Amino acid sequence: MEALRDLPADAPLVVLTGAGISAESGIPTFRDPDGIWARVRLEDVATPEAFARDPGRVHAFYDARRRALLDPAVRPNPAHEALAMLERRWPGPFLLVTQNIDDLHERAGSRRLLHMHGELLKALCTACGERREWRGDLGVETVCPACGRRGTLRPDVVWFGEMPYHLEVIHAALERCRLFVAVGTSGQVYPAAGFVEVARRHGALTVELNLERSAVSDLFHLHRFGRAGEIVPAFVDELLLVTGVGLA
Ligand code: APR
Repeated sequence: MEALRDLPADAPLVVLTGAGISAESGIPTFRDPDGIWARVRLEDVATPEAFARDPGRVHAFYDARRRALLDPAVRPNPAHEALAMLERRWPGPFLLVTQNIDDLHERAGSRRLLHMHGELLKALCTACGERREWRGDLGVETVCPACGRRGTLRPDVVWFGEMPYHLEVIHAALERCRLFVAVGTSGQVYPAAGFVEVARRHGALTVELNLERSAVSDLFHLHRFGRAGEIVPAFVDELLLVTGVGLA
């Protein structure tokens, strides 16, 4: 199957998103020229070793990102909204897997959603394992509300060298999906960058929606290049039309 029109209207879908989908909402990506990793070394803020060495610095990095996410000017854009609409309208199984730690998919209305790299608005206690919503700053003096210990909370995000969340469920969905769509991801970070290969090997049609070619572009059957806020709504409309599901 190499064309969208051959896809049954109840085919299982998996959509993978990365930082590019949130760029037009005002959240910087990682590897673009103005991206986060052009300003900060990931070894200083996004590894378990960095947190062990200098937890204050790591907290300050995520505190700044959490505050920026909670800025009222940061809102879901038409790409997030289109994927939420696709989930509501698609008659078959649907799973949205995001590498993003922001909550813009939820705010747009997505529900069948897995955050494989964790969530910025949650804290995890390394002592008692409690996870809870967290919208304020975190520091080395912060007390865990569940166990009362001091300095044990960390952002509930997956750092380099740690195991992403939900991989079993994601792999099962990749193996049975008939359509795999990747949005706004550079294809440089595994295991997410390898999902297209898994889906394709199991017979899925694979589509890349990105500003430019990614590191794994060759593994996609179809490509649409442009800004997510434009190409994702256009692709969702096209998918709903050619499969006969209809727009509304
Ligand atoms: N619309 C669509 N795509 C865009 C846009 C846009 N407006 N702006 C940027 N992009 C594309 C870039 O061209 C790039 O290919 O989004 C991609 C973003 O790539 P990265 O910055 O590498 O982000 P991502 O792939 O999500 O990174 C994966 O690496 O460090 C981490 O843990 C972090 O989850 C993240 C992981």
